[in-house]
Amino acid sequence: MNARMAAFRERLGGFAFGGDYNPEQWDPAVWKEDVELMRRAGVNLVTVGVFAWASLEPSPGEFTFGWLDDVLDLLHAAGISVDLATPTTAPPVWLSHGHPDVLPVMEDGETFGFGNRLHFDPTSPRYRSHAVRIADRLASRYSQHPALAMWHISNEYGPTSYGPHAAAAFRVWLRRRYADLDALNDAWYTRFWGQRYTDWEQVAPPEVPRSWSNPARRLDFKRFISDALLECFIAERDAVRRYRDDIPILTNFMRFYRHADYWRWAPHEDAAALDIYPDPGRPGSHVSAALNFDLMRSLRGEPWVLMEQAASAVSQWKVNNVKRPGRMRLGSYQAIAHGADSVLFFQWRAGRGGHERFHSAMLPHSGPAARTFLEVAALGNELPLIAAVAGAPSSADVAVLFDWDAWWGLEVTHGLPRNDFDYTAIVESAYRPLFEAHYAVDLVSFGSDLSRYRILVVPNAYLVDDGFVAAVEEFAAAGGTVVVSFFSGVVDVNNQVRQPAYPGAFRRLIGAYIDEYWPAREGETFEVEFADGTTAIADWWQESLHPETATVLGTYTTGDLAGRPALIRNDHGSGCVVYIGTRLEPAALRDTLLSAVRAAGAAPVVEGAPPYVEAARRDRYLFLLNHSDARAATVTVPGPGRDLLTGAAVTDAVDLPPLGVAVVELS
Ligand code: GAL
Repeated sequence: MNARMAAFRERLGGFAFGGDYNPEQWDPAVWKEDVELMRRAGVNLVTVGVFAWASLEPSPGEFTFGWLDDVLDLLHAAGISVDLATPTTAPPVWLSHGHPDVLPVMEDGETFGFGNRLHFDPTSPRYRSHAVRIADRLASRYSQHPALAMWHISNEYGPTSYGPHAAAAFRVWLRRRYADLDALNDAWYTRFWGQRYTDWEQVAPPEVPRSWSNPARRLDFKRFISDALLECFIAERDAVRRYRDDIPILTNFMRFYRHADYWRWAPHEDAAALDIYPDPGRPGSHVSAALNFDLMRSLRGEPWVLMEQAASAVSQWKVNNVKRPGRMRLGSYQAIAHGADSVLFFQWRAGRGGHERFHSAMLPHSGPAARTFLEVAALGNELPLIAAVAGAPSSADVAVLFDWDAWWGLEVTHGLPRNDFDYTAIVESAYRPLFEAHYAVDLVSFGSDLSRYRILVVPNAYLVDDGFVAAVEEFAAAGGTVVVSFFSGVVDVNNQVRQPAYPGAFRRLIGAYIDEYWPAREGETFEVEFADGTTAIADWWQESLHPETATVLGTYTTGDLAGRPALIRNDHGSGCVVYIGTRLEPAALRDTLLSAVRAAGAAPVVEGAPPYVEAARRDRYLFLLNHSDARAATVTVPGPGRDLLTGAAVTDAVDLPPLGVAVVELS
C-alpha cells in the first residue's frame, strides 16, 4: 500500500467523505453556511480550486490568493481537510486570447476555442509551462497549509490535439519508439498504397479520415496522445512534489476512457481515482459501474479513490433521471465494496448558473431540507461505522483482460471483417455473468502478473503483444484455465496480421486455426448444439474453425457453417483452454464461462444468492448489496460475524430489503 495514502487514511480516520467545492462561485457569507452544513453532513474532505485559475490569476502574473487563504483557513478550523486542485483544466481567457497556440486543434483542423473547459493543447509548450507555473505557485503557497491532505492535478485529462505542436511532439515520440525511419515504415506497413516516408518532417498526426487511413499510424497516435497527457500530469506532479513529499498526488480518471491508457498512468499516481456517473435510468448500470470499480482497484492492486459521483441526477444527458431514495447510498457502498476508500461527489453546492446548474449536488438548490441533502448527511454520518474497512485489500481468482492497446487496435482502425466491434461492451458481456454469480474479478492488462489467478478470460483481444501471448501460454501450461472469445490474437502491436493462420497469437494455445472470419448477415442467427445435446442461439459473428489438437464443445447445426465447430476446448500443459468462436446468447455464454470457472476451482464470494444481489469482499469484510428496487433477499453467508451497519450478530444468513446493504465483519 502506498505510504502517502496510508497516512492520508489515517489523517481522515477511515473513509474520505465530501466532494468538489467551488467557493469562488459564491459570496464569503455562503462559505460559513457551507462549512456548517459540511460538518452536519459528516464531510471530512473537499476538493477545492478545480476550475479556479481565473479567480487565482485574473491577469498574467497578478495573483489573488487571498480568498483561497480564507477558504482553507475556514475549512481547517472546522476540521475539514482539503484536496487542493491545480486549475489547469480551465486556463483563463487571457492565456488563450493572448496565445491562441495553447488551444487544441481538433481532428477536422478547427480550433477548439475558449468558452468551455479542457481548452488546452496538451502538446503546447506554452500551455505546459503556464500549467507548471500555476501549480508551482499554488504549491509554494499552500504545501505547508495544515488543511492540505491531497493534491488533485488538473481534472479528467482528456483533450487531443492535431495541430502543429502535436505534429512536432508526435515525431519526437515516434523517433523514440522507432529510432529510424525504416523501422517506422515497416511498423506502419507503408508499402501499402505507396505511403513510404523519406523524411521525418513528412510524418504528421492522422487528420480526419476523408477516406481510409493507415491503421498503424492511427494506433500510434492514440498511444502518443495518452503519453502526451501523462507528461502534463507528471510535470505538474513534480512541480508540487518539490515542496513536500508526503502528500498524495492524484488525478481523476473517467471509467473506460478512450484517450488515456490508465494502466500506463496508474504507476505515476499515489492512487487510482475515478469519476463515475452510472445512469439511474438504465437498468443494469450497476454492473458497468462494478466493472469500472474493479478496473480502478486492479490498476495498482490497491484501494482507490472514488473522486466524483452524483448525489442524484446529472445534467449532461438527454433525460437526467434522479437516483431514487436509497440508490445513492447503495452505489456508494458498492464502490467501497470494490475497494474505494472514499465517497466523494461532484459537487458540494449546486451552482446557480453555467452548464451544470441542474446537476445534482450534496447540497441542492432547495437547501438542507431537501431529500438529497438528508440522504447525503445520513450516509456521511453512517460511514464511520465501517471505518475499519478503509485500507482493507481484496483478492480474486478470476482475471479478465482489459487492455487499451487491444481496444485501440480494434476500434480506432477501419477495415476489419466487420467495423462495429464494441470492445468495452464485449468485455462487459463476459464480466456480467461472473458478477451475477458473485465471483470476485480483477482486470488485467498485457503486462500483468497472471500467476495469482485460477482463470483468465480474454474477450475479443484482436491485438495482443508478444509478451502477453507468452504469459498466457505459461499461465495455461502451469495449470491455469483460459477462456478466449472470438476475433482474438489476430494482429501484433503494429496492427499487422500474425501469419501463417488466424489466430496467429493463440493458435497453439487453442489448438486450432481459423481459415476465414465469417461475420453474420443482418439479423442472421445460428443454432449451436453442445456435446450434451442442449442447444443455444448465436449471432453476429462466426469463424471457420479447424481443430488441430482441440476437441469440439459445440457445433453449428444451421447456417453457412453447419457441421463446423463453434466452441472448442484444448489441453495446454496442465491447463485447459476454451475458445468461443461466435457471439453466444447470454445464457449460453454464462453457462460456458461458469462451467470453466468452476472447473478451474475458483470460489464465489457467496453461494446461491440471486443475481440482483451483489457480493464482494475486502479481507474479512463481506459486502452484500441488493440492487433490486422491489425484491428482498436472504443471503447465506460463509460464516458468522457482525453487521457493522446495524451492530446485529449474523449467524448464517442476512436479510436484505430492496436496495439494502450489509457490511458483515466475518469472525
Ligand atoms: C465530471 C467533471 C466534473 C463535472 C461532472 C458532472 O466529468 O469532472 O467537473 O462536470 O463530470 O457530472
